[in-house]
Amino acid sequence: MTLANDTFETVAELVRQRPERSRIFEELGIDFCCHGHVPLDRACVLNGLDLVDVCRRLEEAEAAVTGAERDWTSASLTELTEHIVELHHRYLRRELPRLAGLIDRVLDAHGEHHPELRNVREVFAGLQCELLSHMLKEEQVLFPMIRQLERTPADERGNLRFHCGTIGNPIAMMEHEHDTAGKALQQLDRLTHHYQPPDDACPTYRALLSGLEQVQSDLHLHIHKENNILFPAAAALEPRA
Ligand SMILES: [Fe+2]
Ligand SMILES: [Fe+2]
Repeated sequence: MTLANDTFETVAELVRQRPERSRIFEELGIDFCCHGHVPLDRACVLNGLDLVDVCRRLEEAEAAVTGAERDWTSASLTELTEHIVELHHRYLRRELPRLAGLIDRVLDAHGEHHPELRNVREVFAGLQCELLSHMLKEEQVLFPMIRQLERTPADERGNLRFHCGTIGNPIAMMEHEHDTAGKALQQLDRLTHHYQPPDDACPTYRALLSGLEQVQSDLHLHIHKENNILFPAAAALEPRA
């Protein structure tokens, strides 16, 4: 991370190059997935952050990198789609119903003193429903198209015919749905005061907020891998009409 060169890179590109940077952007509230096409210096201005301080934190994160996230820009698209399904989709299918159950219990116990929990339940239910249908569309329509494009020799890709026309159509639809999910996450973040438990929160309430915060972090990374790595690479495989 060099202050002179990297501050003009977009936030999405910085995470694409070094995935561990996502953790710092997450902590600072810098959106690197749906609105990641903003240079770092501009993102700092928009979020009221000091650029020098942000660069220092990014450098520290890089020095302490554990290697838990591999560089997906050098993987095949087939591998990346499999990774997304096995890690991120599986996580959401397990975690969303668990959190929906926790919200019901916390609302029962704390709804009287925390009426905003009703809005949390409503927003979360909408997000859960949309994400489950969104993941099915990726797994049954878009990801198979991407794998088919990748395994077809370049000079034969022009002969491929998809029922939805160009691959840009389902990609645009998925990106639109990512934006919708991003807005729901912002609402949850606001309604829960950045997932901070109130003084009277019981352990279940705290577990709920911690779980919601993890869903937000995971979804940001998940959407980043799709919007900023997988989709542009897939669109580039399709021959131009
Ligand atoms: Fe996905
Ligand atoms: Fe997606």
